[in-house]
Amino acid sequence: MEAPADFGVYVHIPFCRHRCDYCAFATFTDRDDVIPAYLNALATEITRSVECGMPRATSIFVGGGTPTRVPPDSLMHALTGIPRTDDCEFTVECNPDDVTTEMMRVFADGGVNRVSVGVQSMQDHVLTSLGRTHDPANVVRAMTFARDAGLHDINLDIIYGVHGESLDDWRRTVIATLELQPTHVSAYGLTVEAGTPLADDPARHPDDDVQAEMYELVDDLLTAAGMANYEVSNWSVPGHECRHNRVYWSQGDYLGFGSAAHSHRAGRRWWNVRTPERFIEAIGEGRSAESAGETLDADARRIEGLQLSLRTTAGVPVESFDADDLMMMNDLLSVDGGRARLTRAGRLLANEVALRLK
Ligand SMILES: C[S@@+](CC[C@H](N)C(=O)[O-])C[C@H]1O[C@@H](n2cnc3c(N)ncnc32)[C@H](O)[C@@H]1O
Ligand code: SF4
Repeated sequence: MEAPADFGVYVHIPFCRHRCDYCAFATFTDRDDVIPAYLNALATEITRSVECGMPRATSIFVGGGTPTRVPPDSLMHALTGIPRTDDCEFTVECNPDDVTTEMMRVFADGGVNRVSVGVQSMQDHVLTSLGRTHDPANVVRAMTFARDAGLHDINLDIIYGVHGESLDDWRRTVIATLELQPTHVSAYGLTVEAGTPLADDPARHPDDDVQAEMYELVDDLLTAAGMANYEVSNWSVPGHECRHNRVYWSQGDYLGFGSAAHSHRAGRRWWNVRTPERFIEAIGEGRSAESAGETLDADARRIEGLQLSLRTTAGVPVESFDADDLMMMNDLLSVDGGRARLTRAGRLLANEVALRLK
């Protein structure tokens, strides 16, 4: 019998100690007082979905915001109702400053088996330039605490192209990241998000050519250390690819819980109200927290599927490009077994290549 398709659950924790000036995520620094009510509302929203017959999750991703900003036992308690398969990948995003031995134990006891740590840089002056508060030594400490609790599947998020970051700074960050022996690394080029303080300060905007050099460097170093790139911004020790992200990249079904969380089932997607107060209010009044939604038509869904797949090592069917375009982009795409896949040069220009999909 064929195994049922993967089904993801995303849980949003919209609280942060401090707002990083490059971040556009739906998160807040001034309303920790609503954390208990928020976690109660989360548990209620989950219970209602279970009553409506939600499938068992094959992956759960608790992200933010900062999940480690809320009491870990209360967080685990709020999530206990999520039905999950025995082999469910269960990730919590952690801020290195918050991680304690006790927190990691509570997570592991609650079924968490993967942590994702927001490292960003291992260089003090780069962290300062990003407006981050943590010390690289806390990352090392957080890894030890996670492993002591039996959490060995560890992703580290790093960012490149920060104002004041040289190629050597970036090399040092990647080498220090590798020394920590994560099973997974996500390396993101710093993006300028509309409405953020960074957007208003062009002097600190990243340079495309420098970011391209940094991308090649991180790919060289991670690959030489035995990790494989499996999506433009993601590398893993083989066998440790992120199951949850694969649900997104394959247009699979997932439910999002909490404020601003997005969901998708069978071509329809929808998202919840943006603020924690409105979320608490809606759930408390017995209403759905949905703010709006859309159903993609078949062609838009097909193209979106190709765009997502192109960014992964699965690539796309070769017929997804005109023969002339394939010829013109022969350094950006490699063709093999009827599939077209991005070369490394192609990964650097993934968005431009995707514009030629038909
Ligand atoms: C929204 S954060 C949540 C996790 C945690 N609060 C943290 O900051 O580490 C998830 C990841 O998004 C990435 N991120 C956020 N804003 C970004 C930006 N403007 N450009 C590139 N990456 C960004 C960071 O790497 C971060 O680790
Ligand atoms: S980057 Fe992370 S810590 Fe910073 S404001 Fe965004 S969610 Fe919060």
